[in-house]
Amino acid sequence: MNSFAYRNGTLHAENVSVLDIADSVGTPFYCYSTETFSQNYVEFRDAFSGLNAQICYAVKANSNQAVISLFSNLGAGADVVSEGELRRAIAAGVPADKIVFSGVGKTQSEIASALSLGCGQFNVESEPELEILASIAAHKGQIVTAVLRVNPDIDADTHDKIATGRAGDKFGIDYDRILPVYREAKNNPHVSVAGLAIHIGSQLTALAPFKAAFDKIANLITDVRTAGFSVDRLDLGGGLGIVYRDERLPTPAEYAQLVRKVFGQFELELIFEPGRRLAGDAGILVSTVIYIKEGGGRRFLVVDAAMNDLMRPTLYDAWHNIDPIIEPTPDTPMVPIDIVGPICETGDIFAVQRELPPIMPDELIALRSVGAYGAVMSSTYNSRLLVPEIMVCGDEYAVIRPRPDYKELIDLDYVPEW
Ligand code: LLP
Repeated sequence: MNSFAYRNGTLHAENVSVLDIADSVGTPFYCYSTETFSQNYVEFRDAFSGLNAQICYAVKANSNQAVISLFSNLGAGADVVSEGELRRAIAAGVPADKIVFSGVGKTQSEIASALSLGCGQFNVESEPELEILASIAAHKGQIVTAVLRVNPDIDADTHDKIATGRAGDKFGIDYDRILPVYREAKNNPHVSVAGLAIHIGSQLTALAPFKAAFDKIANLITDVRTAGFSVDRLDLGGGLGIVYRDERLPTPAEYAQLVRKVFGQFELELIFEPGRRLAGDAGILVSTVIYIKEGGGRRFLVVDAAMNDLMRPTLYDAWHNIDPIIEPTPDTPMVPIDIVGPICETGDIFAVQRELPPIMPDELIALRSVGAYGAVMSSTYNSRLLVPEIMVCGDEYAVIRPRPDYKELIDLDYVPEW
């Protein structure tokens, strides 16, 4: 259940009419619900009660500081993948020691900054990275806490572009290299290898791939400990999916039950990095219909949002439910419509032959479940302005990122004298 529902015939975010926000900020805009973010967090957190578990919200899903700060106030740390995300998380109030730095390509300058800022854990993805990390830590006279991200060679059974745990994917250290890396690191006084990490992919809709990966990691923990090394921390990444259409999904409680079953007997500090599960259904993208055009036997709804504002349909053929802001009557006949943006690419399309009630020009629509990987992936392609973000809380709403103006966009360029 999320907090976007029709009331008196109009879509509301909590107690606020989406039309009222549109009147004030114009379209397109992202609109988030504080209540849904919070409910998602509490459900996830409570699933692990009794375990030594820390949730580090995957900031990449939605990095607006209002969102990070909301999760931080509920007790979350952060999982970041760049210096920008690290700085954002700190600016939003996340204590640096509750931040884990993931990512396959941390630059030397990012590592140095993260060490200076007191980042709590580095999830190391390769042997060269571990060497660089150790040498920068030595240079600074620090001891860095690292966990080794394992590539478990498990297919997460998700979209090819967001599966990360197969041998041959760029992520993690090969399973059989983990012990040698532990041995190597033992000789380095500037790195403390505290444990292991995995993340096999995103938008997982079944527990089986998690189980396959967890079983492998459980064996690895035993092997590493038997060899005399410590595994105190286990970072299980993110990946739990959400309903976009009609997927049947494991609940956080079911996922937690699996975690307990596989890792319950190990003494471990667990870390989780959920992104989509916390933020996905907490956001909608509101857009206005500019034109209805007929052509080639099809009806197109041309709307004022586009692929630069929400990349997921174009990039992953992702499905997002689409609803009119004015509630249709139950007996309204549905008609197949293509919903497209104004960008000069055929791929700028949100839905193909979607069954929707008739919608007229100037009417508003909402694209659902865009709270994760929506605004964060937007760009100014076609010199379009970034879409503003609005956060609702009860009867109130705040503009948590305003729409820039054209001057800001244009003034970024510099034309050289020559
Ligand atoms: N931890 C690591 C190391 C990750 O790479 C990711 C996501 C997460 C945690 C969070 O995963 P989540 O719980 O959100 O599934 N842009 C794509 C999703 C890319 C996910 C990348 N990594 C999309 O729109 O579907």
